[in-house]
Amino acid sequence: MFASTFGVVAHFARGTPARTNTPIRLLSCQDSSMNYRSAWVALMLLFAVPALEAAAENAEPTEAERADQSRHLSKTYGEKLKSALVRAIKAGGPETAIAVCNVSAPAIAKRDTASSGWSLSRTALKLRNPKNAPDAWERSVLLKFQDQIDQGADIATLEHYETTTKDGERVFRYMKAIPTQGPCLTCHGSNVSPSVKAKIAEFYPEDQATGFALGDLRGAFTITQPVP
Ligand code: HEC
Repeated sequence: MFASTFGVVAHFARGTPARTNTPIRLLSCQDSSMNYRSAWVALMLLFAVPALEAAAENAEPTEAERADQSRHLSKTYGEKLKSALVRAIKAGGPETAIAVCNVSAPAIAKRDTASSGWSLSRTALKLRNPKNAPDAWERSVLLKFQDQIDQGADIATLEHYETTTKDGERVFRYMKAIPTQGPCLTCHGSNVSPSVKAKIAEFYPEDQATGFALGDLRGAFTITQPVP
């Protein structure tokens, strides 16, 4: 932070001598104008440093900083979801957990983003809840992730972010791939028990989200941040 501010100040200071040929009309005494000017520059710097420091601190986050925040948010969201799921399965079996999952995923997301104005959710190419359908941008990122996996990429490392527009607004968007893990197979695998299947059908008559294997791309976390 200080280094960059110092850079800006140094830049201004470097720029000053270019104007030494132009007499400063404000100063009546030409002979001592250099001294006045040096004092003036020193004074400017004295005030400029804290002002620039303050401006830098209030500055909007950079794209890399937004990506960092998004990485952290999707990680904690994933952890919270997983522990809520495990707790619900322990308490009432996967059939009960289906109902919990339905309400708790959007509820946790809402709580985690309440103060920031961001949006956070999950999406996928093969959906359980049609409300989680990707928009065109999300779909293209999911297809890119699948492509990268097909070419041998490690799914745990896959993310994509960019500053773009959504509904006419400038936004920062971030997506992080979600791998299918062991506990997911109870409800998303190929051998889903008949009672779990029945419960899924009750809540999600259009379900497409079974038949996944360990390590498959299950979906992605998706985050949108408004950029002023
Ligand atoms: C107890 C059953 C159950 C288990 C176990 C489970 N899920 Fe789900 N999953 C669901 C239900 C129900 C939904 C629909 C939630 C909703 O309505 O938004 C869902 C939705 C999703 C979605 C959102 C996209 C979509 O298809 O609607 C993703 C991504 C997802 N699950 C990933 C996982 C991952 C990863 C795991 C393992 C860590 C997992 N799930 C374990 C039941 C389960």
